[in-house]
Amino acid sequence: MRKKVIAGNWKMNMLPDAAIRFIDELTPMVKNTENEVVLCVPYTDLFYSLLAAQNTNIKIGAQNMHWEESGAYTGEVSAKMLKSIGVEYVIIGHSERRQYFAETDETVNKKIKAAFANELKPIVCVGETLEQRESGDALNVITMQTQKALEGLTEEQVANTIIAYEPIWAIGTGKTATSEDANEAIKAIRNKISDLYGQNTSNRIIIQYGGSVKSTNAKELFEMSDIDGGLVGGASLKAEEFAKIVNYN
Ligand code: 13P
Repeated sequence: MRKKVIAGNWKMNMLPDAAIRFIDELTPMVKNTENEVVLCVPYTDLFYSLLAAQNTNIKIGAQNMHWEESGAYTGEVSAKMLKSIGVEYVIIGHSERRQYFAETDETVNKKIKAAFANELKPIVCVGETLEQRESGDALNVITMQTQKALEGLTEEQVANTIIAYEPIWAIGTGKTATSEDANEAIKAIRNKISDLYGQNTSNRIIIQYGGSVKSTNAKELFEMSDIDGGLVGGASLKAEEFAKIVNYN
């Protein structure tokens, strides 16, 4: 049985004092869950969040990183730097980074390799635009993104990657993919991984859904056969709402 991983993506929100208050509030509400609880916070909240989450079951992640270990890359943060303070997860290739910051399948692939080299767990985002969905191209787009993201990884590394299927048209719009459509897309990703890395790997890899997940739709989505939890944006900014999503079962 694959574990459910419920990750919050705070995006560019929350000052350190709010982050600490959030974690203090969330801790008792999620302490009994069997699901993996992750908060991906802005760089400026990482250290405070790690301290606040000490001795809890809440894991802390970053939202991006550079693939080089160090060097003349003004403004960038490396996997090694994240690891050095105790970060465990990192989101790679979020559609907002692909759209606004020129992230490509190639940079995503380099970042995943750097994450593994530094023992960080990558949460890799794939997803189609509305236009691609309407033209019937969605499954092709997301399976190609997955293939390119994972190129050159070992079976073991692929099994330890988390993929987040986030249809771009469902992000921050209040429009959620139907649980059937989300499950179909995630099955297509899993089948692709089976073709490339074998069935054992595809049975192990965790694939989340993201895009307007909230407490009222989490259960229906996360109980589908192939959906292993969620990557939650807006609804992860209120501790009580996020706790309800974590405790959906
Ligand atoms: P929303 O949950 O706000 O739609 O955002 C989803 C997302 O982009 C998570 O990474």
